[in-house]
Formats: sequence, structure tokens, C-alpha cells
Amino acid sequence: MEDLTGKVAVVTGASSGIGEAAARLLAAEGVHVILSARRRERIEALAQELGDKATAVVADVTDADQVHALFDTVRARFGGLDLLFNNAGLGVFGRFTDSTPEDWRRMIDANIYGVLNCTHAAIPLMKERPGAMISSVSSTGGRYGIEGWSVYSATKFAIVGFHDALRKELGLEGIRVSVIEPGAVWTEFGHNVPEEALRERRANLDALTAADVAQALVYAFAQHPRVLVEEILVRPVKQVAP
Ligand SMILES: NC(=O)c1ccc[n+]([C@@H]2O[C@H](COP(=O)([O-])OP(=O)(O)OC[C@H]3O[C@@H](n4cnc5c(N)ncnc54)[C@H](OP(=O)(O)O)[C@@H]3O)[C@@H](O)[C@H]2O)c1
Repeated sequence: MEDLTGKVAVVTGASSGIGEAAARLLAAEGVHVILSARRRERIEALAQELGDKATAVVADVTDADQVHALFDTVRARFGGLDLLFNNAGLGVFGRFTDSTPEDWRRMIDANIYGVLNCTHAAIPLMKERPGAMISSVSSTGGRYGIEGWSVYSATKFAIVGFHDALRKELGLEGIRVSVIEPGAVWTEFGHNVPEEALRERRANLDALTAADVAQALVYAFAQHPRVLVEEILVRPVKQVAP
């Protein structure tokens, strides 16, 4: 494994769940982490806890201007970027026939436009940085359609397709493009699923912790720059389907 000391990472959705866990683990590995999300108080508290290993920058990934401001800050403060962790995202649960265009738009904006906005702004900062990596969080729902999550699944399938094409565009420049597809994880995700049902499902599956997923990210990032861990599907062993 490579030494990550002094690397620079942007983590979107760092205010909770997988993003927060990734930020903690990266900082523990010596990476300077730019924590981004909409909830200022959460990322500022985490930045304070992580000390000189973290900087908080509020941004809504669906807003291209805010995303540009975020990466302008990265350029001004650090001169470049080694890791973009496109983790921010959301899912609205429900049968497709009961869903609304507003639900679709929220998921498409955060899960697709968010990744596109951040990736587009980040790539110029990743040139000539050995081992630079773009990692985006898809889902097992990005590999298999999941009942009740049809539009969410569509957005996560889109990320897998986008990354496969982007990998071919950026590989010869040495920029690694990688996808993580988690199964069930104990986080705040699933805001409109009845709380008891969500807790029961995660308990029955012995769901992953956010730190388990963070380990997968760091595993991929800490490989030698010639090594691309292209895709990691990581699920609770008891989640046998889908
Ligand atoms: N938990 C699971 O079972 C599971 C499984 C597979 C994949 N995933 C994926 O994992 C990723 C992280 O989710 P999580 O499970 O850690 O859930 P979470 O605790 O709800 O975290 C979601 C994060 O995304 C951020 N976010 C949402 N919309 C945003 C926006 N427009 N701009 C900026 N940040 C935004 C939230 O921050 P703010 O609200 O502060 O902006 C929050 O930090 C998501 O992409 C999700 O689809 C989760």
C-alpha cells in the first residue's frame, strides 16, 4: 500500500454516513480532506475535530456555481487534487407509480448532476498528480434494479456507465476512475423509509458500517498509481439478494 501522507482529497457528502467515515479514515492516513456538504454546522464540527487535516467548504453539488467555487478554493489553497470522492447522494423510496417528477428531479440532480459537476471541475486539478483518482459511490442498486428504488437505481446505473466511459478517456493520462457499489449501510440514507422497517432490514442483514465502505475507498486509493481498482461491490454477507 502507498503512503497517503500529504495527498489532497475532496469528499462530497462529508456531513454524515459514508462521507464522514471516509473523511475520518483519509485524515487518519495523513490526507488533507476538504469536507463538503450543505449542512455547514456538521462539516465545520468535523473539520474542527480533524484539526489541520481538514477544511470545510459548504457546497450543494447540484449547483454548478457552488461546485466551481469549491474547486477554486481547492486550487487556491492546495494547487491540485489527488482524490475526488463523489459520495453525496440521496434516494427517495416508493413505487414508481406513486412517485412524482419532483422526486425524480431531486435524485437525478444530486446523484447524476452532482457527480458530473464535481468531476468536470476536478479533472483539471488532477493532471500530473501520480495516483490521482476519481471514485464515485453507486450502489448495488446501480447493478441490479431494486423494487421501490426504480429511479434511484436508474441514477446509480448511470454512474456506472459514466465511469466506464470516463475511465477510457482518462486512463492514458494516469487518472484512475473507480466506482464503489455498497449494499445496505447503517447511515441516514433512506429518509422516507419508515424508521422501524429500515432498522429491521439493516439489523436482519447485519448491514455494513459506513467505516466498512470507507475502508474500500482507502484500499483502492492506496494502491500503486499503476493499479486501478475499477469497481468494488461491497455488501453485507447476509444481503444475498439483489
Ligand atoms: N446507506 C446505504 O445503504 C447506501 C447504499 C448504497 C449506496 N449509498 C450511497 O452512499 C452515498 C452516501 O450516502 P449515505 O448512505 O452515507 O447517506 P447519508 O448519511 O444520508 O449521507 C448523504 C450525504 O450526501 C449529502 N448530500 C445530499 N444531497 C446533497 C447535495 N445536493 N449537495 C451536497 N451534498 C449532498 C448529505 O449532506 P447534506 O445534507 O449536509 O448536504 C450527506 O452528507 C449516497 O450516494 C448513497 O446513494 C448508500
